[in-house]
Amino acid sequence: MPIIYNEKNKTFKLDTDNTSYIIQVYEENYLLNLYYGDFIPDCFVPGRDKRTPNASFSPANPVIGEHGFSPDTAPMEFGTSGAGDFRISALEIRNSNGDSVTDIRYCGHKIYDGKKEIPQMPSSYVNSDSEAQTLELYAKDAVTGAAVTLYYSVFPKYDIIARRIRVTNESPKKMRIERAFSLCLDLPDMDYDMISLYGAHAKERNAERRPLAHGIQGIGSRRGASSHTQNPFMALAQKGADEEHGSVYGFNFVYSGNFSALAECDFNCTTRVIMGIDPDTFSWELDGGESFDSPEAIMVYTSRGIGEMSRLLHRFYNNNLIRGRYKTEKRPLLINSWEAAYFNFDSDKLVAFAKEAKKLGVEMLVMDDGWFGKRNDDTSSLGDWFVNEEKLQGSLGDLIKRVNNEGLKFGIWYEPEMISPDSDLFRAHPDWCVHVEGREPMLGRNQYVLDVSRKDVRDNIWEQMYKVLSENNIEYLKWDFNRNICDAGSALLPPERKEEFFHRFILGTYDLMNRLVTAFPNILFENCSGGGGRYDPAMLCYSPQIWASDNTDPIERLYIQFGTSMCYPASSMGAHVSACDRTGYGTKCNVARWGTFGLELDPTKLTDEETEIIRNQIKDYHRNYELVNRGDLYRLISPFENPYRAAWQFVSPDKSRTMFTLVTMRREFRQHLIVKLHGLDPNAYYRNEETGDVFSGALLMNAGLVLTHIAEKSGESVVICFDKI
Ligand code: DGJ
Repeated sequence: MPIIYNEKNKTFKLDTDNTSYIIQVYEENYLLNLYYGDFIPDCFVPGRDKRTPNASFSPANPVIGEHGFSPDTAPMEFGTSGAGDFRISALEIRNSNGDSVTDIRYCGHKIYDGKKEIPQMPSSYVNSDSEAQTLELYAKDAVTGAAVTLYYSVFPKYDIIARRIRVTNESPKKMRIERAFSLCLDLPDMDYDMISLYGAHAKERNAERRPLAHGIQGIGSRRGASSHTQNPFMALAQKGADEEHGSVYGFNFVYSGNFSALAECDFNCTTRVIMGIDPDTFSWELDGGESFDSPEAIMVYTSRGIGEMSRLLHRFYNNNLIRGRYKTEKRPLLINSWEAAYFNFDSDKLVAFAKEAKKLGVEMLVMDDGWFGKRNDDTSSLGDWFVNEEKLQGSLGDLIKRVNNEGLKFGIWYEPEMISPDSDLFRAHPDWCVHVEGREPMLGRNQYVLDVSRKDVRDNIWEQMYKVLSENNIEYLKWDFNRNICDAGSALLPPERKEEFFHRFILGTYDLMNRLVTAFPNILFENCSGGGGRYDPAMLCYSPQIWASDNTDPIERLYIQFGTSMCYPASSMGAHVSACDRTGYGTKCNVARWGTFGLELDPTKLTDEETEIIRNQIKDYHRNYELVNRGDLYRLISPFENPYRAAWQFVSPDKSRTMFTLVTMRREFRQHLIVKLHGLDPNAYYRNEETGDVFSGALLMNAGLVLTHIAEKSGESVVICFDKI
């Protein structure tokens, strides 16, 4: 049983295959965290319950007495505001008296097999109840009547614990949640580096590592989206931990809106980590009897290095987060019209793309931005989701038939949460854009954000989408989101609920996405936000793949893909080959084959030689689909650490096949290079698919591959595959 309650010590023990997490019900029903780390058989860890208080400056509970336990220094399971714990708080509730002292104490629990869904929100799931067990810990503020449920779903096989909270107002009076984080973890030391993923549009998810220091440090977003600028992922890696060694805690937030992930190191040199909705742009009013559910946060621990942390998350997301038909079914390889034509296309041009692409082995054509309203540039028509038949020179149905006749499926682009000032929708409903009374909202890419916190707005957009999608043979949908949100407000929200807007907006987005995947389960859905501006675990619940970046330069992509792989699986990573000329097509394809390979170019303009390279690469992509989609990733040489090259490797789950890729970014003076492979069976023998050479797994992992005069020049690359014999 992964979750046990130990009566004697009053502890809860949450075990995965390799980890243990221990919660104690302490005196006066304080909930403490005694341990999170490698598996231990014990139910209690002595000496972890209290730490030296800060003389008379650490408040004492009047019943327990002074000079022992203080919420200021104890490892609190869920740190709250104003009741003696001065560290960053995971929960703050303002009561009807106006104060925000929040003091929750244990009052019961429930343990059960499986895992419940979160109302209205995406979250991880179980395929069968035997995959996970859930602990619901009940805690209550006896003075205010705020009741809190702390949820822990333990997935033993992946060393994952999924966490969230629910706050219920059990008093007859109103209360306001000022902050409600999903996860709080107190660690007994601070000898960690924080790893996070910063970026910008076209430069997403750069891995950054910095030592923890005393005080508060962290990342977040207030942009109305999980954002390009900081991904909702944070890891704490033991000093010196690398890809293969050392202890690492990973935290990933299943949410697409404003977030905050913080670590505070206190005077006792301990660390508190919290992750949840950004409290500065959030509050939520609860009437008597009402509840609020936080989004989910995923927590993983391993002592086998950063690479293993990533692989655990990848496996978990592939099995317990991504869902729908294309979770397991092979996804069609696509060509997208955006970089090939931008807004400048008609049916003939698209059909010509389809015809040439078919010869390359492509399986689907995606018509990107520009097919609706009167949109020929980015200044109009968002919100007018009817087909521009004049531009297409015919109906959408006819175009799709022609593409299907060329042997390709057909996909389409939408940006449902936006509205152009120059649109019929805006002229009819000027109050449907996100705005605050009396201010003209700011523009972003010439557009406003549509207020999808409103049901009437969502119904309108959904009806428009439903018409197009149900009347046509559309098999893929790219959902874009091309600006961030300011002037945050909704005409329908009363003043005391204005701060609920950002979260209500995201709930509205999830509602629309849920309608889409429910009504059209066979449509392959790809998420996008100006590239990877909403690349987060929540989006993976709706769309199994996400367009990783608008930057398709293969060298820049190395950084983006290495960073993305920190927590997100290759199966999710939209990676296309474009016409940009930094390297030849060989390297462009080798890099794009890390993800959900596709083309973003005009295939009628390729030379014969380029056509041949791409055709062969596509064959290889199809052959290695399972290996990349389901295999284990090993990051061998990181571009963030090595200025000359990047290398990575996929290994099939049964270790029978591996694909090694190396890309040279800059020439180095070296006669030969040795790269050690990982993850193979040391006792098995592997044959090089191309040369037929046979080596033991042990040799490939310990002596390594010797690359002499291979992929030496900048922009060159090599892929080598081995099969177990
Ligand atoms: C941003 C996306 O990232 C691009 O791929 C493309 O779809 C454009 N938007 C279209 O406006």
